[in-house]
Amino acid sequence: MVVLGIESTAHTASVGIVDERAEVLGLASDMYRPPKGGIHPREAANHHVELLPGLVERALESARVRPSEIDAVAFAQGPGLGPCLRAGATVARMLSLAWSKPLVPVNHCVAHVEIARVLSGLDDPLLLYASGGNTQVIAYARGRYRVLGETLDIGIGNFLDKLWIELGGVFPGGPAIEKEALAGQELWPLPYSVHGMDVAFSGMLTATLALHAKGAARPDLAYSVEVTAYSMLTEITERALAHRGHGAVVLGGGVACNERLKSMVRAMVEGRGGTMYAPPRSLCVDNGAMIAWTGHLAHRAGREVPVEASAVEPRQRTDLVATPWRGN
Ligand code: ATP
Ligand code: FE2
Repeated sequence: MVVLGIESTAHTASVGIVDERAEVLGLASDMYRPPKGGIHPREAANHHVELLPGLVERALESARVRPSEIDAVAFAQGPGLGPCLRAGATVARMLSLAWSKPLVPVNHCVAHVEIARVLSGLDDPLLLYASGGNTQVIAYARGRYRVLGETLDIGIGNFLDKLWIELGGVFPGGPAIEKEALAGQELWPLPYSVHGMDVAFSGMLTATLALHAKGAARPDLAYSVEVTAYSMLTEITERALAHRGHGAVVLGGGVACNERLKSMVRAMVEGRGGTMYAPPRSLCVDNGAMIAWTGHLAHRAGREVPVEASAVEPRQRTDLVATPWRGN
């Protein structure tokens, strides 16, 4: 069985083609990069509308799969930016109708967990999902994926991007700060904002900019921000692990490509006798393959929707999404 999946929740338009063993047969992605400042939903959506048809072609070509060999079309139904979601859903509906294939809606956050779960071989891991818009600790419990902890203000990636632009850099900030931090030596004290299982970043943003205005060196600030922010994420992940009593952790989201974050989480998890896994970059960031794979699981469990009932859900909540393949 071969599923084509479409991702378009935020910056990235992506088409993945995956078989029943979670082998990624084809993957074609393109990220919208705003010329200045943050993401504008309508402009990102225009980017997706323009690029998705070509990405579908590229994914099919690289997978060496014909449309007749596709068994289902999956798309990210939410959560995400409305105009971006609608761009992907429209292409998915069109393909489903044109090819007479079932249409399968998928939750974007659940897809991050499922692709990491199958790649890692870990049966019931906790997910630390750290991306631009999202910062969440997610685990499966009693029939649903549940958000155990999350950011109370902005996503970690948006925080890093915003900070870097204010410090004179360009988007995306996360990888640039990672590089800059390698030359950092002094650890500046910054607000460490953990509230139970939740975190917050806006105080750190203000404090870092204030230090910069007083002349603190950028590499030192980058280093201090990384150490502080990633310690916070490691702490809430550890607290969630302690509550669950067993120790498998997977990472997802663009910020999970960060080497310092990976090594901090790995040290914590292994210190507790557990296992940590982070997917390769192309499957860690937003991608169509994770949507295709989760579409696979959902379709095998009987999920498909008629076009009339395939509206996107920008605020779709992870814990309201049924996951029958995990046994409800
Ligand atoms: P989502 O809809 O899931 O929030 P997104 O549009 O933010 O997704 P992703 O590709 O998951 O997309 O993540 C992009 C974010 O990851 C950006 O904020 C970027 O700065 C950050 N990022 C990418 N690489 C690194 C890195 N090496 N270190 C830290 N942050 C990184
Ligand atoms: Fe994501």
